[in-house]
Amino acid sequence: MLILKDIIKNYEVPVLGPIDVEIKSKSFVSIIGASGSGKSTFLRLASGLISQSSGSISYKNNIKPKMGFVFQDSTLLPWRNVIDNVLLPSELTKQNNSESIEKSINWLERVGLKGKENSFPNELSGGQKMRVSIARAMVQGGDLLLLDEPFSALDEVTRRKLEDDLLEIWETNNITVLFVTHSVTQAVYLSQRVIVLSSGPGIILEDLAIEKNLKDDFEETSEFISQVRHLTNILKKEGREL
Ligand SMILES: Nc1ncnc2c1ncn2[C@@H]1O[C@H](COP(=O)(O)OP(=O)(O)OP(=O)(O)O)[C@@H](O)[C@H]1O
Ligand SMILES: [Mg+2]
Repeated sequence: MLILKDIIKNYEVPVLGPIDVEIKSKSFVSIIGASGSGKSTFLRLASGLISQSSGSISYKNNIKPKMGFVFQDSTLLPWRNVIDNVLLPSELTKQNNSESIEKSINWLERVGLKGKENSFPNELSGGQKMRVSIARAMVQGGDLLLLDEPFSALDEVTRRKLEDDLLEIWETNNITVLFVTHSVTQAVYLSQRVIVLSSGPGIILEDLAIEKNLKDDFEETSEFISQVRHLTNILKKEGREL
């Protein structure tokens, strides 16, 4: 889906790289690392929102995937109702037609917001706002969904529900997911693969394929616990070396 080759990003100082990574189609990949390690920069580079200082980014068959971005706060415009927030990117790219309206209504229903189309953001809970943001990204995207610490402001129960809904969306829509989080347990629970970035400039410290036994409640298994412990130890060790 996506290949990043020798990617380096500098602002006044180096912040990321060199990074060499290939993201496979239909995979669910999480990126973890300390604050300032370059996780958001990595996502912005992958999405083309910003450009790299050196190195190259290429896409499968040279076709840029359709991407949707979900940020930490749901980034809804308060003066627009739910459906108009979902339609905003289509408006900006002048693809605001009956198909995108139908798609938006459809996605709002799929994220559990049927009947809320005309509500305004201040009438929604934090979890509902995040659902609008996911619907908006899916209307835009469809190939690659990039999420930057999307659920960290939510309470535990809402967060868990959204995590499971995200997994369901990933499984049923054949999309690729790049997920940035601070939480090791969340990364291991959700992903097929977890990439750990070092403290800035971020390079890849670990690239772990997550082993899951789908027959069991994954979080109760010794595999889950040992993989969380392994990644936590890497982060702790990195923290000590700062
Ligand atoms: N637009 C910018 N201009 C200058 N420096 C920037 C810019 N964006 C990010 N940085 C710097 O790049 C480094 C990495 O930032 P980034 O936001 O990618 O980190 P992060 O891992 O997402 O952190 P957090 O977990 O706190 O969100 C930081 O030192 C930050 O100050
Ligand atoms: Mg960030």
